[in-house]
Amino acid sequence: MTAGSRERVTVCLPDEEATHAWGRRLGERLAPDHTVALSGELGAGKTTLVRGLAEGLGTHARVKSPTYTYLLSYPTERGTLVHLDAYRLRGADDYEELLLEEQLHSPWFLCVEWPERVGTGSLPHPLLHLRLAAMPGTSGRQLTVEEGRLPPPA
Ligand SMILES: Nc1ncnc2c1ncn2[C@@H]1O[C@H](COP(=O)(O)OP(=O)(O)O)[C@@H](O)[C@H]1O
Ligand SMILES: [Mg+2]
Repeated sequence: MTAGSRERVTVCLPDEEATHAWGRRLGERLAPDHTVALSGELGAGKTTLVRGLAEGLGTHARVKSPTYTYLLSYPTERGTLVHLDAYRLRGADDYEELLLEEQLHSPWFLCVEWPERVGTGSLPHPLLHLRLAAMPGTSGRQLTVEEGRLPPPA
Protein backbone atom coordinates (compact mmCIF):
# COMPACT_ATOMS: atom_id res chain seq x y z
CA MET A 1 0.00 0.00 0.00
CA THR A 2 1.21 3.44 -0.85
CA ALA A 3 1.64 5.92 1.97
CA GLY A 4 0.50 9.41 1.07
CA SER A 5 1.58 12.59 2.77
CA ARG A 6 -0.65 15.41 1.59
CA GLU A 7 -1.18 13.78 -1.77
CA ARG A 8 -4.11 11.52 -2.34
CA VAL A 9 -3.30 7.85 -1.79
CA THR A 10 -3.65 5.87 -5.04
CA VAL A 11 -3.23 2.13 -5.48
CA CYS A 12 -3.00 0.20 -8.78
CA LEU A 13 -5.00 -3.02 -8.94
CA PRO A 14 -4.04 -4.82 -12.17
CA ASP A 15 -6.60 -7.63 -11.94
CA GLU A 16 -9.49 -9.06 -9.95
CA GLU A 17 -7.14 -10.99 -7.64
CA ALA A 18 -5.39 -7.73 -6.73
CA THR A 19 -8.71 -6.11 -5.76
CA HIS A 20 -9.63 -9.14 -3.68
CA ALA A 21 -6.22 -9.30 -1.98
CA TRP A 22 -6.24 -5.57 -1.22
CA GLY A 23 -9.72 -5.88 0.31
CA ARG A 24 -8.54 -8.85 2.37
CA ARG A 25 -5.60 -6.92 3.80
CA LEU A 26 -7.91 -4.01 4.62
CA GLY A 27 -10.30 -6.41 6.38
CA GLU A 28 -7.45 -7.84 8.44
CA ARG A 29 -6.50 -4.40 9.77
CA LEU A 30 -9.73 -2.40 9.82
CA ALA A 31 -10.69 -1.26 13.31
CA PRO A 32 -14.15 -2.33 14.52
CA ASP A 33 -17.16 0.01 14.25
CA HIS A 34 -15.90 1.46 10.99
CA THR A 35 -17.60 2.32 7.70
CA VAL A 36 -15.99 1.73 4.32
CA ALA A 37 -17.72 3.71 1.57
CA LEU A 38 -17.01 2.42 -1.95
CA SER A 39 -17.58 4.68 -4.94
CA GLY A 40 -17.20 3.70 -8.59
CA GLU A 41 -19.25 2.89 -11.65
CA LEU A 42 -21.08 -0.37 -12.22
CA GLY A 43 -18.43 -3.06 -12.68
CA ALA A 44 -15.66 -1.04 -11.02
CA GLY A 45 -14.90 -3.83 -8.54
CA LYS A 46 -16.67 -2.63 -5.38
CA THR A 47 -18.27 -5.98 -4.54
CA THR A 48 -15.01 -7.78 -5.34
CA LEU A 49 -13.27 -5.61 -2.75
CA VAL A 50 -15.99 -6.37 -0.16
CA ARG A 51 -15.52 -10.11 -0.82
CA GLY A 52 -11.84 -9.76 -0.01
CA LEU A 53 -12.62 -7.63 3.03
CA ALA A 54 -15.01 -10.32 4.29
CA GLU A 55 -12.25 -12.90 3.98
CA GLY A 56 -9.90 -10.61 5.89
CA LEU A 57 -12.48 -10.36 8.68
CA GLY A 58 -12.44 -14.13 8.88
CA THR A 59 -15.50 -15.43 7.06
CA HIS A 60 -15.68 -17.75 4.10
CA ALA A 61 -19.32 -16.84 3.54
CA ARG A 62 -20.05 -16.14 -0.11
CA VAL A 63 -20.64 -12.40 -0.25
CA LYS A 64 -23.41 -11.66 -2.76
CA SER A 65 -24.08 -8.34 -4.40
CA PRO A 66 -26.87 -6.77 -2.33
CA THR A 67 -28.23 -4.76 -5.28
CA TYR A 68 -31.79 -6.07 -4.96
CA THR A 69 -31.77 -6.76 -1.24
CA TYR A 70 -30.03 -3.48 -0.29
CA LEU A 71 -28.61 -4.91 2.90
CA LEU A 72 -26.88 -8.20 3.76
CA SER A 73 -25.14 -9.13 7.03
CA TYR A 74 -22.49 -11.76 7.66
CA PRO A 75 -21.11 -12.93 10.99
CA THR A 76 -17.30 -12.97 10.92
CA GLU A 77 -14.55 -13.83 13.41
CA ARG A 78 -14.08 -10.13 14.18
CA GLY A 79 -17.69 -8.90 14.19
CA THR A 80 -20.67 -8.40 11.92
CA LEU A 81 -20.06 -7.35 8.35
CA VAL A 82 -22.98 -5.29 7.05
CA HIS A 83 -22.98 -4.76 3.28
CA LEU A 84 -25.27 -2.09 1.85
CA ASP A 85 -25.83 -1.30 -1.81
CA ALA A 86 -27.31 2.20 -1.88
CA TYR A 87 -27.73 2.31 -5.68
CA ARG A 88 -31.53 2.41 -5.49
CA LEU A 89 -31.79 4.66 -2.46
CA ARG A 90 -32.95 8.23 -2.87
CA GLY A 91 -31.20 10.14 -0.15
CA ALA A 92 -30.56 10.03 3.58
CA ASP A 93 -34.24 9.44 4.50
CA ASP A 94 -34.34 6.19 2.52
CA TYR A 95 -31.12 5.18 4.20
CA GLU A 96 -32.41 5.90 7.68
CA GLU A 97 -35.49 3.76 7.07
CA LEU A 98 -33.16 0.92 6.25
CA LEU A 99 -30.36 1.20 8.74
CA LEU A 100 -29.85 3.34 11.78
CA GLU A 101 -26.56 3.46 13.58
CA GLU A 102 -28.30 2.15 16.73
CA GLN A 103 -29.12 -1.07 14.87
CA LEU A 104 -25.44 -1.84 14.41
CA HIS A 105 -24.19 -4.05 17.20
CA SER A 106 -20.53 -3.56 18.05
CA PRO A 107 -18.17 -4.86 16.75
CA TRP A 108 -19.50 -4.04 13.28
CA PHE A 109 -17.95 -3.28 9.90
CA LEU A 110 -20.19 -1.45 7.44
CA CYS A 111 -19.45 -1.45 3.70
CA VAL A 112 -21.54 0.86 1.50
CA GLU A 113 -21.57 0.75 -2.29
CA TRP A 114 -22.85 3.94 -4.04
CA PRO A 115 -22.41 6.10 -0.91
CA GLU A 116 -23.17 9.27 -2.91
CA ARG A 117 -26.83 8.16 -3.04
CA VAL A 118 -26.96 8.74 0.70
CA GLY A 119 -24.15 11.22 1.25
CA THR A 120 -21.07 10.10 3.18
CA GLY A 121 -21.96 12.62 5.91
CA SER A 122 -25.06 10.55 6.79
CA LEU A 123 -23.10 7.33 7.22
CA PRO A 124 -21.68 6.23 10.57
CA HIS A 125 -18.16 7.48 11.27
CA PRO A 126 -15.24 6.86 11.41
CA LEU A 127 -15.44 6.41 7.68
CA LEU A 128 -12.97 5.44 5.00
CA HIS A 129 -14.13 6.55 1.54
CA LEU A 130 -12.54 4.68 -1.36
CA ARG A 131 -13.06 5.11 -5.09
CA LEU A 132 -12.47 2.47 -7.76
CA ALA A 133 -12.06 3.49 -11.38
CA ALA A 134 -10.71 2.09 -14.63
CA MET A 135 -6.93 2.37 -14.85
CA PRO A 136 -6.29 4.26 -18.10
CA GLY A 137 -4.75 2.16 -20.84
CA THR A 138 -5.17 -1.15 -18.96
CA SER A 139 -7.92 -3.57 -18.00
CA GLY A 140 -7.15 -2.98 -14.32
CA ARG A 141 -8.51 -0.63 -11.72
CA GLN A 142 -7.18 2.31 -9.77
CA LEU A 143 -8.16 2.82 -6.15
CA THR A 144 -8.10 6.24 -4.51
CA VAL A 145 -8.64 7.18 -0.89
CA GLU A 146 -11.15 10.04 -0.96
CA GLU A 147 -11.63 10.53 2.75
CA GLY A 148 -10.35 9.01 5.96
CA ARG A 149 -7.17 7.07 6.59
CA LEU A 150 -6.08 3.58 5.73
CA PRO A 151 -5.25 1.49 8.78
CA PRO A 152 -1.48 1.34 9.40
CA PRO A 153 0.38 -1.58 7.79
CA ALA A 154 0.59 -4.74 9.93
N1 LIG B 1 -8.54 -4.75 -10.49
C1 LIG B 1 -9.36 -5.31 -11.40
N2 LIG B 1 -8.97 -5.42 -12.69
C2 LIG B 1 -9.80 -5.96 -13.62
N3 LIG B 1 -11.04 -6.43 -13.35
C3 LIG B 1 -11.47 -6.36 -12.07
C4 LIG B 1 -10.67 -5.80 -11.05
N4 LIG B 1 -11.36 -5.85 -9.88
C5 LIG B 1 -12.55 -6.42 -10.18
N5 LIG B 1 -12.64 -6.73 -11.49
C6 LIG B 1 -13.78 -7.31 -12.22
O1 LIG B 1 -14.78 -6.33 -12.41
C7 LIG B 1 -16.05 -6.96 -12.54
C8 LIG B 1 -17.09 -6.23 -11.73
O2 LIG B 1 -16.77 -6.36 -10.37
P1 LIG B 1 -17.79 -6.03 -9.20
O3 LIG B 1 -17.01 -6.20 -7.95
O4 LIG B 1 -19.05 -6.80 -9.34
O5 LIG B 1 -18.10 -4.49 -9.47
P2 LIG B 1 -19.12 -3.49 -8.78
O6 LIG B 1 -19.55 -4.06 -7.47
O7 LIG B 1 -18.35 -2.23 -8.64
O8 LIG B 1 -20.25 -3.33 -9.76
C9 LIG B 1 -15.85 -8.41 -12.12
O9 LIG B 1 -15.89 -9.22 -13.28
C10 LIG B 1 -14.48 -8.43 -11.49
O10 LIG B 1 -13.82 -9.66 -11.74
MG1 LIG C 1 -21.50 -4.27 -6.63
